[in-house]
Amino acid sequence: MNKLQEWPEPIVRVQSLSDSGTPLIPERYVKPPLERPSINSTASMDVNIPVIDLVGLYGDDHALRAAILDQIAIACREWGFFQVINHGVSPQLMDRAREAWRQFFHSPMEVKQAYANTPKTYEGYGSRLGVEKGAILDWSDYYFLHYLPSTLKDCNKWPTIPADCREVLDEYGKQLVKLCGRLMKVLSINLGLGEERLQNAFGGENIGACLRVNFYPKCPQPDLALGLSSHSDPGGITLLLPDNHVPGLQVRKDENWITVKPAPHAFIVNIGDQIQGRMRESGLISDEKLQVLSNATYKSVEHRVIVNSSEERVSLAFFYNPKSDVPIEPLKELVAPDRPPLYPAMTFDEYRLFIRMRGPSGKSQVESLKSPR
Ligand code: OGA
Ligand code: NI
Repeated sequence: MNKLQEWPEPIVRVQSLSDSGTPLIPERYVKPPLERPSINSTASMDVNIPVIDLVGLYGDDHALRAAILDQIAIACREWGFFQVINHGVSPQLMDRAREAWRQFFHSPMEVKQAYANTPKTYEGYGSRLGVEKGAILDWSDYYFLHYLPSTLKDCNKWPTIPADCREVLDEYGKQLVKLCGRLMKVLSINLGLGEERLQNAFGGENIGACLRVNFYPKCPQPDLALGLSSHSDPGGITLLLPDNHVPGLQVRKDENWITVKPAPHAFIVNIGDQIQGRMRESGLISDEKLQVLSNATYKSVEHRVIVNSSEERVSLAFFYNPKSDVPIEPLKELVAPDRPPLYPAMTFDEYRLFIRMRGPSGKSQVESLKSPR
């Protein structure tokens, strides 16, 4: 455990590197050739993750509601990623939250350093994930904080610049928790379960919620680096508020990386490792269906972020997670003699610790936990 108390080497702020005007990025940020952004990136203009309008989800029109549930089921199966619009979160609040963080990252370094984080809790201002000495690093800084459970929420660890930052963040958290609760119901129904089942398996009211704000400074050699290496999110649901004018998020679709084109005031939703395992085991993906629709399986949601030399980018990733100490294992309803559990029971705390030791690394984390069959 001692290994996790401090960073293995002095922290360098990527923003400072970028601001120094160096034309060459330090070797620490140069990815091996096969991980560089040019590999299999598709520049195709007409591919995008699905955009789903949630406006009819809570109305009286049952046919419309069913159609939305279907669109979400298909998006989960084919992409594991989709965007939602008319989701009920105030567009003004979304803009205000993003701009508050932009202001924070543009405050003087001493202000930010006062919130410098350690690998013990990750809360605060950080510049690396994982504690492996000598690791190749990503071209980004971030800020991490907790909303839930309330015992972990500590507003004193939240920035006070800009002045209304804490207030804006608090409201942002409340509205996003609500939206995730609604999406959990949809996913649960789509798995063929009662609408509360998934939420209950996550620990009911006692779920976790946290925010990572990513700051991707301009990068003088964007072809050699990544803003965030390929990974899948460890938790339940992620709601990403992307930058409103700079693209960067790429989602893996088969062998290609598709650059997401955000819709105005949309959230980008993705299904994290904790739900994916369940999805795979859901009765929805019966063997017959697999034969008919060869792709009919809830997809991996590997994603990464590319950077560019002309513009910085800010994004807010909100993570809705299972209660930290309930053992998460395949739901009984989704397990049968011919469909044994694929993953061992493990609490979210244990899983997250495992990931934090390693830093972002594709799908290998969840795959390496898979029980031998
Ligand atoms: C993340 C993430 C994507 C982005 O923070 O987990 O995938 O666009 N962010 O910043
Ligand atoms: Ni992510």
